[in-house]
Amino acid sequence: MTRHIVTTDDDPAIRKILQIMLRKEGYLVTACEDGNELLALLRTRAQDVDLLLLDIKMPGFTGLELLDMIHVSYPQIPVVMITAFNDLDTGMKAIRMGAVDYLAKPVHRETLVSCVKRVLDHAEQEKQQHAEEDKSKAHMLKLEQELQLALSALKDATVATLQAFSETIEQKDAYTKGHCSRVRTLSVALGRVLNLPPETLEILEGGSLLHDIGKISIPEDILNKTTSLTKEEYAQIKTHPEAGERIISHLPLFKRYMPIVRSHHERIDGLGYPDGLKGDQIPLEVKIVSLADAFDAMTSSRAYRSALPTEIAIEELKFFSGTQFDAELVDLFIEHELYLL
Ligand SMILES: [Fe+2]
Repeated sequence: MTRHIVTTDDDPAIRKILQIMLRKEGYLVTACEDGNELLALLRTRAQDVDLLLLDIKMPGFTGLELLDMIHVSYPQIPVVMITAFNDLDTGMKAIRMGAVDYLAKPVHRETLVSCVKRVLDHAEQEKQQHAEEDKSKAHMLKLEQELQLALSALKDATVATLQAFSETIEQKDAYTKGHCSRVRTLSVALGRVLNLPPETLEILEGGSLLHDIGKISIPEDILNKTTSLTKEEYAQIKTHPEAGERIISHLPLFKRYMPIVRSHHERIDGLGYPDGLKGDQIPLEVKIVSLADAFDAMTSSRAYRSALPTEIAIEELKFFSGTQFDAELVDLFIEHELYLL
């Protein structure tokens, strides 16, 4: 591809010499006699210009004034200044202002050709580098978009699976219909009151839907028994947190819900099951689901008893505050009237 070089010099002899020397090297050369002519050319053809050779001393705009304007409006075009013999200071000033190099008059052919070649090669390298960078940025953007789509599809699938699980639990125990989704509503509301981050709210949401998944392993006649449970039957019911943990352990995506599944029947005073954890040994999200679970269980009808009125359930929460439930969570639950949800 032929490179286009534009020279600007008020001296017709120098314009001619530069033109001859550069054309001989195969470059396309346009010669301007002053700054106005150069600026007019750039306004319409800047994208076709590969290099500018600018004389410093000219009537009208000086070379440095033009350099300043070009640096702002056409930063992609490299500029080589042509200075008077021995004017090292001006040449250095031009470099500081953004010129890529300078040549001293009289300009010798070899010096001119090697300078032009070096500058054009460097500009080409930069252009290719920018093109590579743009390509890689576009590629990264495409990958990011694909990843977002995949994550969103995965999230949809996860939510659908969680809902399917919670419905499976509820189908086994007719009296718990809607229980998991109500526990989810209460837990997330309490999490919001506590200003918990979105990741923890998500754990509360999934953990609430899954907390009783282990009930799948308990015979339906025990779950739906309308009379008192025997000691053995109650012991069997108490195995559901660990059974749930075993089920979840096969599902890597759901492992973050494991603490809620295993520990939602623990109590602050250490009298819960399966591990007898106490106080702060119980993670906050587990304490939240545990409170929401117990409150919804009290206010819904069960096989063995009818629903408690909300006021009585609130009194129960207060009574067991600090022993079964975290006292601060009970206070917030009542203060923010979450029992109305
Ligand atoms: Fe449970």
